[in-house]
Amino acid sequence: MGRGPVAGQLIASLKRLEYRGYDSAGVATLEGLHIERRRAEGKLRNLEERLRDYPPSGHSGIGHTRWATHGKPTESNAHPHATENVAIVHNGIIENFRELRAELERNGAHFSSETDTEVVAHLVESYLKNGYSPQDAVQASLPRLRGAFALAFLFKGHEDLLIGARKGSPLAIGHGTGEVYLGSDAIALAPLTDAITYLEDGDWAVLTRTICMIYGADGTVVHRETSKSGASSLLVDKVNYRHFMAKEIHEQPTAVGQTLAHYLDMSAERVALPLTLPFDFNFIQRISITACGTASYAGYIAKYWFERLARLPVEIDVASEFRYREAPLRHGDLAIVISQSGETADTLAALRYAKSQGLHTISVVNVSTSTIARESESVLPTLAGPEIGVASTKAFVCQLAVMAALAVAAGKERGKLSEFDESELVRELIEVPRLIAAALLVEPQIEKLARDIAKASDVLYLGRGTSAPLALEGALKLKEISYIHSEGYAAGELKHGPIALIDETMPVVVIAPYDDVFEKTVSNMQEVAARGGSIILITDARGASEATVDTLMTIVLPNMAASFTPMVYAIAVQLLAYHTAVVMGTDVDQPRNLAKSVTVE
Ligand code: F6R
Repeated sequence: MGRGPVAGQLIASLKRLEYRGYDSAGVATLEGLHIERRRAEGKLRNLEERLRDYPPSGHSGIGHTRWATHGKPTESNAHPHATENVAIVHNGIIENFRELRAELERNGAHFSSETDTEVVAHLVESYLKNGYSPQDAVQASLPRLRGAFALAFLFKGHEDLLIGARKGSPLAIGHGTGEVYLGSDAIALAPLTDAITYLEDGDWAVLTRTICMIYGADGTVVHRETSKSGASSLLVDKVNYRHFMAKEIHEQPTAVGQTLAHYLDMSAERVALPLTLPFDFNFIQRISITACGTASYAGYIAKYWFERLARLPVEIDVASEFRYREAPLRHGDLAIVISQSGETADTLAALRYAKSQGLHTISVVNVSTSTIARESESVLPTLAGPEIGVASTKAFVCQLAVMAALAVAAGKERGKLSEFDESELVRELIEVPRLIAAALLVEPQIEKLARDIAKASDVLYLGRGTSAPLALEGALKLKEISYIHSEGYAAGELKHGPIALIDETMPVVVIAPYDDVFEKTVSNMQEVAARGGSIILITDARGASEATVDTLMTIVLPNMAASFTPMVYAIAVQLLAYHTAVVMGTDVDQPRNLAKSVTVE
């Protein structure tokens, strides 16, 4: 709610959120006594064009960019959804929308979309029609909704009123001068204000330009702290890069350096965690790591580190499976969740499950104000800065940096690493930002290679040891932004099935630093070569000279100690995915069907 027309402010904020969903967009404002809506299929720029032709003049409004769950990404499914007296925007999923819709239709409601969201508008409208005030109508509706939601409501005839509610999906209130805002996160509100109040799960808020009342799920007034958000100082700009992804890949020497500096005492060559953990690693019998997508591959790599350096068994699972498989967990053990956004619904549910089983919880998150950060016992932040490209790059390597430092700390506390071992490992970590900068120099070579990869319809990635999960990450990166089918495999698994796919048309990317499993990987490369597969070998100088196999291309990365190679080898697979996508002409930063922050199951 503003002091002048709000459409421009809504668009500016939506631009900052567009990376989270971009298949349609819309705004609704209050114009005199009616609700005025403008919606458009596709990217936000389509909506912007529409607003340019017909600018709304209302001083209160709501807006949304959508990532489709229920119903195609058409204009009629775009938010806001509205009935006669209320307009709403929604993030999340209303799980019981079918039964609610049937009930509302029986009572005469006419639906104009296929979405789950529209039921909320009709539900609130049904209470308004029965004489409820807007506040009472929302309060009566919320307990009837199953699922996850962040909702904002605008009411016809109530120019100085905005209601918001959250369960599962994040929602923040921004406080301005004579203005008030609701947003999915502080980044969206950053150009408007840095005074932010985060709603807790189950909260709902009734806002006027001057009064902000927050209620808990039981309807009692609750107090939530207002804090100063750092988001306004964060630049969400491509600078001179063509894509955010390219910028974020190139930011890695700095981002990883900043993150490591937070966890290491570089001059003493010691790990120095920024907080005292509320447990002793000697009493932990098993670590359970959960995450989704790229963050889960950071967890898989960390498993090798914790097991090798701290002799601590690690279980790792993707959060969407972990949350429903009723894993038996031991009270007092440790659960670590990893998430760039800190809002991923499955990861949040995994965290809550671990807490309910009496585990200590650590979250490794990039957004320190996120729900996952706020709900975990200890937070170990990655200091990557905002990651806008949908494909995660710098956050991934920063996650590895944090996990590496933590694994060394655990090894030290458990007496598995001596002071000498610790300083050697810390020295290796200190080198990583410089090595990442050196790895970025292979970009012209990879740009050339990308022209060949772009011709393939399938690509295989192989690796052993910590390079095995990196192979999964390489394949994910390529498929999600170039739409070329790709698979990652532990190199030793090749002969158990995937080798049947190999022929001259199938590039095989082998990630193989010269380490203690290098020779085994070379044997697997021989198996590929014998079947006519074309090999792209990513290795170091020693590996390049010792590999006795013909390759389509050998990419030589800087020499480094074997412990933390994925942090540097990640750069090569990121660049390969990026340049292939550029050759393919896809929408690199906003690939089809994806969204940056997955707040639904
Ligand atoms: C892939 C990618 C996703 C995310 C996943 C988890 O490039 O970015 O696989 O890693 O959706 O997201 P966060 O880390 O926000 O929990």
